[in-house]
Amino acid sequence: PKKVLLDCDPGIDDALAIAYAHGSPELELVGITTVAGNVGLDHTTNNALRLTGFFGMDVPVVAGADRPLVRDVVLADEVHGGNGLGGVRLPAATSGVRDGHAVDFIIDTVAAAPGEISLVAVGPLTNVALAVRKEPRLVEQVREFVIMGGSYTRGNRTPAAEFNVLADPEAAAVAFGAGWRTTMIGLDLTAQARATAAVRGRFAGLGRLEAELISPILDFYGRHPQYRVEGPAVHDPCAVAYALDPGMFTTVPARVDVEVHGRFTSGMTVTDFAAPAELHNAEVATVLDTERFWASLFTALGRVATG
Ligand code: BDR
Ligand code: CA
Repeated sequence: PKKVLLDCDPGIDDALAIAYAHGSPELELVGITTVAGNVGLDHTTNNALRLTGFFGMDVPVVAGADRPLVRDVVLADEVHGGNGLGGVRLPAATSGVRDGHAVDFIIDTVAAAPGEISLVAVGPLTNVALAVRKEPRLVEQVREFVIMGGSYTRGNRTPAAEFNVLADPEAAAVAFGAGWRTTMIGLDLTAQARATAAVRGRFAGLGRLEAELISPILDFYGRHPQYRVEGPAVHDPCAVAYALDPGMFTTVPARVDVEVHGRFTSGMTVTDFAAPAELHNAEVATVLDTERFWASLFTALGRVATG
């Protein structure tokens, strides 16, 4: 299986991303690192621990940055609830957080298996930025670097900016500027993965997984004004899907720069598909094979549900 290290801020869609990775035998989740984002670091870490327990996973959870590099914390608790999981209370975690800092875990885990690990980041990019600054060889050592973040059209948290980039634009600028090729799974892509009523119907039959987690978190998520009409976009699982099967995606090479100064545009991922090839720093996902995506996610969740 392909080794994946998931950096996340659970988070409703992060929870689905963790389940998806766990239920996909083609992937081996080698670790989960947490960052402040949707909710504070204590919550994102606690949620990661509770989720891994609930899913029956044996994977290290390591806590990372509790705030952005430069700015004040920006949360998305109105989208994810005060506890980050739409008020859902999972059983207390059975295992504890792994000692050490996420940044060192990322560096050491990738260095121990050069060329093998896909680093998939689905929260603000604070841990990733600190890791590439502390160990620049990380850029050559990863197999690939995939993010859920950004957008080449419009944002969600502001008209210009997507939440993960908006929350720590300086970190995102470091990540896009690090010298590797970032695969950007942005809002333009994830808007194609909406948990509509028809999709929700397919979750029935997942037993406790559905009744105690998926249904209540998606109910909460879907009540947000942004999602009420077309259904909530399940952003973060799309980044896992890319690691699992890039054939589900159309990507286009581009130059992506992060706006860190704008008064109205801070956190915008300025995407130039017309840039000369030598300036390209990203593969930007544009089209999702929606049918394949849902089929793959449901298959994985079915495996998690039946243990
Ligand atoms: C991203 O922001 C978070 O709220 C979600 O978990 C996702 O990673 C979408 O903009
Ligand atoms: Ca997230």
